[in-house]
Amino acid sequence: MTRPAPDAVRYLTGITTTGTPHLGNYVGAIRPAVQASRTPGTQNFYFLADYHALIKCDDPARIQRSTLEIAACWLATGLDPEQVFFYRQSDIPEIPELTWFLTCVCGKGLLNRAHAYKASVDKNQAAGADPDTDVTAGLFMYPVLMAADIILFNAHKVPVGRDQIQHIEMARDMAASFNHLYGPHFTLPEAAVDESVATLPGLDGRKMSKSYDNTIGLFTPAAQIRKQIAGIVTDSRSPGEPKDTEGSALFQIYRAFATPEETESLRRAYAEGIAWGDAKQLLFERIDREIAPMRQRYQSLVENPTELERILRRGAERARAVATPFMSELRQAVGLRNLASQPTAKGAKSAEKAEKAALPAFKQYREADGLHYFKLVEPGGRVLLQSQGFASPREAGQAVGVLRAEGAAGLAKLAGQVERPHSVPENELGNALSKLMQAD
Ligand code: TRP
Repeated sequence: MTRPAPDAVRYLTGITTTGTPHLGNYVGAIRPAVQASRTPGTQNFYFLADYHALIKCDDPARIQRSTLEIAACWLATGLDPEQVFFYRQSDIPEIPELTWFLTCVCGKGLLNRAHAYKASVDKNQAAGADPDTDVTAGLFMYPVLMAADIILFNAHKVPVGRDQIQHIEMARDMAASFNHLYGPHFTLPEAAVDESVATLPGLDGRKMSKSYDNTIGLFTPAAQIRKQIAGIVTDSRSPGEPKDTEGSALFQIYRAFATPEETESLRRAYAEGIAWGDAKQLLFERIDREIAPMRQRYQSLVENPTELERILRRGAERARAVATPFMSELRQAVGLRNLASQPTAKGAKSAEKAEKAALPAFKQYREADGLHYFKLVEPGGRVLLQSQGFASPREAGQAVGVLRAEGAAGLAKLAGQVERPHSVPENELGNALSKLMQAD
């Protein structure tokens, strides 16, 4: 196989390899992702973002340990490495190579606006320090590396949390800039934010999160989980007194694991005054029923790192079967070429040119007012669409990218920025755009 099946929707997501997964990660990210990976008609890329981990962590032993645990965790929870692409970012040399290509088309100003970078700068400024104190170039470049992860595999959808949406938008921008300069090589990715998954409360009732130190480890030994559950905050009602499910962390965690019927029966038990100790016992049993079989698999993987290493290398091999030929195409596109193959390259170019000549084309230009414009022009010179002025060629290029990727649907997004001449019927413009999209 060289390329992913063209008709499948490609999902791709990265897992930063720091820390140890907890139940909140399991319910909010891992379990839904493993389920989604089995959806027919989709192709799924899940990878361990260990290059990203280096931005946040400079402890080599921790990097290695987290990678091991997180890989084991995804496999133990049911990810099938033969059905999905499951690999380690640092096993794919095409990712850093593409990162450089994108670095060269990405405006520095775009990166200045990234939330994570801005937050660091703001913090420094508030403290009266130099704005770039303790800001590595790695943190600044984070979105470019992430864009390379995504568009190297031409992902359509990127399942992420809300905090990552901006990164996906930046990946789109970079893909569109590259496409504009070098031809339509990349799919423009979209964030897929699942609003239906529960965020789990932690032991203290706030959102379960490492930073609150209120987590229950996913594969912590059962005896310890039992202890942690015993520490979940409740109110002081005694056995026999009816209890509120509303605002009860215990109830919410239970619901994330139980069937609707089981949840209903706990609700009744609350109303009938179940003792907190008994409710905690029910919760422990319910969680353990789901996790115990996975824990065994997890243990055996963690104790057998050679097997894990083999699985990851096999995954990288499969991913590179996609990435390596695509990267050759991209190297060719930017002009990193075999110097001896000039004539053939030209021959290919002229055939490509003839094919393109029959299609309408976007023309970008600058007016005396200093602004950057584009228009869509038929081979005969008739104008099908005219843009307003943009402040920079990049912005004009991005608008062209939207139209190329989305055709007539993109017109709505650019309302006010483009105009169809009165002499051009709407469906004619739509047809021209979809022809262009097909040619891409
Ligand atoms: N930045 C993501 C996070 O912190 C992890 C990540 C790295 C990622 N590369 C990615 C997510 C590519 C989606 C796609 O969660």
